[in-house]
Amino acid sequence: LKVLSVASEAFPLVKTGGLADVVGALPGALSPHGVATTTLIPGYPLVGRAVKGARVVHRWTDLMGVEARLLSARLGTHPLLVLDAPALFARAGGLYGADDDWHRFAALSRAAADVADAMRFDLLHAHDWQAAMAPAYLRYRAAGSRPIPSVMTVHNIAFQGQFDAEVFAELDLPDAAYGIDGVEYYGGVGFLKAGLQSADAITTVSPTYAAEIREGRFGMGLEGLIETRRDHVQGIVNGIDPAVWNPDSDPALPTRYTARALGRRKLNKRGVEAMFGLDRGDGPIFTVISRLTWQKGMDVLVRCLDELVMLGGRLALLGSGDAHLEAAFLAAAARHPGRIGVTIGYDEPLSHLLQGGADAILIPSRFEPCGLTQLYGLAYGCVPIVARTGGLADTVIDANEAALAAGVATGFQHGETDYHTLAHAIRRAIAAYARPDLWCTIQRNGMRADFSWAQSGRRYADLYKSLTGTA
Ligand code: ADP
Ligand code: GLC
Repeated sequence: LKVLSVASEAFPLVKTGGLADVVGALPGALSPHGVATTTLIPGYPLVGRAVKGARVVHRWTDLMGVEARLLSARLGTHPLLVLDAPALFARAGGLYGADDDWHRFAALSRAAADVADAMRFDLLHAHDWQAAMAPAYLRYRAAGSRPIPSVMTVHNIAFQGQFDAEVFAELDLPDAAYGIDGVEYYGGVGFLKAGLQSADAITTVSPTYAAEIREGRFGMGLEGLIETRRDHVQGIVNGIDPAVWNPDSDPALPTRYTARALGRRKLNKRGVEAMFGLDRGDGPIFTVISRLTWQKGMDVLVRCLDELVMLGGRLALLGSGDAHLEAAFLAAAARHPGRIGVTIGYDEPLSHLLQGGADAILIPSRFEPCGLTQLYGLAYGCVPIVARTGGLADTVIDANEAALAAGVATGFQHGETDYHTLAHAIRRAIAAYARPDLWCTIQRNGMRADFSWAQSGRRYADLYKSLTGTA
């Protein structure tokens, strides 16, 4: 089965968040199930440099008004296609947020549909709004075209790719596409909406999030559509790539370790203290590795920090995002020298050190489609403290009495994020940390849990097979 996976990011070439990790890991997750995945991403400058000298396998003289080439390269050991369209992607700065984003990502989607057809893929898998027009382009091809089923995966329904109605004329779609069951969305054009409406199947990245987005509070305007298509929606939880996230072989760790030799983590903890200017000590170090945004509940965490420190905790935070949150965390660090250390920025190796050296990772998200940092935390014995929402609810087992008695607890969950729920979870974690045997059991349970792609890879493969009639 030949699948074209289309996205705007793929680890290790280009990453701003979990989407890249998942897109990068999928080909390896699927190959054991007889699925050959080719990934298509935009030719950002960074990507262009990484695939320098790649073979040109196709040229467009007019891809939605621009010249473009298709380059053939590798993503790890799997095939990669790069859309080299300098007029759209050869720019400095962030990946998103340009005035012509509609043009850039409509072109990516258009190219994906063309390629799926011309290169005879059996199925197209689109990720998030940047690729979401691809199922629509497939759907509105000329009558009599070879049918190509499509899957639309929602990694975060909060980002929808919504544009003014005027762009419709430039999208090169038949007039009939501008309707409630097509691309029209609240009087404009909705890319994710179009993908959700056009794809044969919809997935999102955890079962709980799949249920949540049927409600107004989480659906962000698309809840009605998700509800009407509910028979085509399923939640498939993300896994982690063991080649990248394994404490026993991680090159970013000063000291590698396994569940049986957890004592070795202490050396990494010393490393975290040194990197974040924290006092040396035996009390718990909490970490945050995150976009600093409202979604992630970071404004609430800021308010809990004085208490966290008062109770003997320390914090090592790595993140970037909203300016006011960056400033608030820096202010907290200034208030608590030696107790709170903050690094504003994006640093992949440092994120590994934190997972391998901090004691617990805080993820108080208001919503979280899946979340990956709690999975990395589980794998590294960095105990997750999470809000009970989305994929966080599905992947962490709260250390309540029943779970402790059954010996299955892997972390701490709290209710809807606010000061009281989060502060309570922090207090519970600090109390548990004071009981080394208990803490160690929670760490080991997490490290032994199965967060591999084995189950989820099979579920995607089964979905592909049912859609292509090859089951
Ligand atoms: P989201 O995609 O919503 O940001 P996820 O938990 O799914 O959340 O994925 C976030 C990914 O980005 C993880 O791989 C995490 O380690 C990484 N990450 C987030 N912030 C940083 C940072 N400042 N430096 C390094 N890695 C980061
Ligand atoms: C999005 C979500 C995150 C998820 C990631 C990968 O960025 O916010 O929860 O883990 O996509 O699916």
